[in-house]
Amino acid sequence: MPGQHKAAILSQQGGPLSLGERPTPEPGPNDVLIQVKAVALNPCDHSQRDNNIPPVPIYPAIIGCDTAGLVAKLGSNVTTIPGPGSRVIAFASSFCQNGSPDHGSFQQYTLAPSEAVIPLPENLSFEEGAVFPLAVLTALTAWTTIGIPLDTRYNPADKQAVLIWGASSSVGTFAVQSAKTLGFTIYATASPKHHDLVKKLGAHAVFDYQTSDVVSQIVSAVKKDGAQLHTAHCVVDGALQPTLDILKETKGDTQAKVVHSALLPEGHPTLDNTQITFNFPSMDETVRSKHMHEVFNGWLRTGLQSGEVIPSPSIQIEGGGLGGVHAALDKLKGGVSGTKIVVPI
Ligand SMILES: NC(=O)c1ccc[n+]([C@@H]2O[C@H](COP(=O)([O-])OP(=O)(O)OC[C@H]3O[C@@H](n4cnc5c(N)ncnc54)[C@H](OP(=O)(O)O)[C@@H]3O)[C@@H](O)[C@H]2O)c1
Repeated sequence: MPGQHKAAILSQQGGPLSLGERPTPEPGPNDVLIQVKAVALNPCDHSQRDNNIPPVPIYPAIIGCDTAGLVAKLGSNVTTIPGPGSRVIAFASSFCQNGSPDHGSFQQYTLAPSEAVIPLPENLSFEEGAVFPLAVLTALTAWTTIGIPLDTRYNPADKQAVLIWGASSSVGTFAVQSAKTLGFTIYATASPKHHDLVKKLGAHAVFDYQTSDVVSQIVSAVKKDGAQLHTAHCVVDGALQPTLDILKETKGDTQAKVVHSALLPEGHPTLDNTQITFNFPSMDETVRSKHMHEVFNGWLRTGLQSGEVIPSPSIQIEGGGLGGVHAALDKLKGGVSGTKIVVPI
């Protein structure tokens, strides 16, 4: 283990991320020190870099959340994963650690809390392993945000339905995969070129959100199927109004629940007897740790072992290592379609 390692350092809001060296930390009792082999990029990374959302409490900062790599050293209390040299997937966000730059995936060595580190199965590459952490955490936090425990198992015959608007996004693909585990009948939206993928991941029916009568198409399908639709996950911007238009026709007297992953705009639309909640994990450390353990060591670890959970959406590799992350973030900011950008380190 080196005394120093390379990092993509954010010195000020707006960037750029520039290559520098930082001291390699020792893991605390509950931490894992990871040699980063691949990082996946998320919209919050360029939002943090450029807009300070979520806020960066300390500069110079290390951002980035998603990684797969090798265990370099285990903290003294960590028993959930094998020791040095083992392959792992980790959620290594500095945002969840009060901005600590020893955490954050855009560097050669990062710390991650053990509840957010799981083995990377042998059949997956580091690049495939990196796509999971934040997208999975967001997709599963959506369920608990609206009071649906992760051990829910609806009987498919009961046709408890969910609408997932933005199902070909990174978060959306895991919203679909996890909704399938929970036993929902899944109605989803995506561009037509991604319909096969979204169906393969578990959707019952997928609709083109750019079609002018998409709302009535979905309402008709739900009614024809006799499904109970009063739950929805708005994954992307622009999802809320059509989602409410659909729920208005399908929820009956039941209170509808909508979880919204993209930022909820001020003065957003509303609907009678409908709860609309922004999707965000608890900032209480004990509650969040328990939740992360359930998400990563529960759903994701079990699903990868059984083969029920697969990497999604498609991976787009960008080169340049840590020096290439800044430009790769600009590509993500420019928009992607059914793609996760990954940078091998
Ligand atoms: N609340 C949280 O804690 C949290 C955490 C992570 C992410 N997020 C937010 O969650 C959202 C999704 O993140 P992500 O990484 O999954 O995004 P992403 O993969 O970059 O999203 C790209 C996808 O969005 C789809 N899309 C865009 N506009 C759409 C629309 N009007 N209707 C349906 N689909 C649409 C596109 O679908 P097609 O290609 O099929 O057209 C594309 O595949 C972002 O707003 C992100 O900031 C929130």
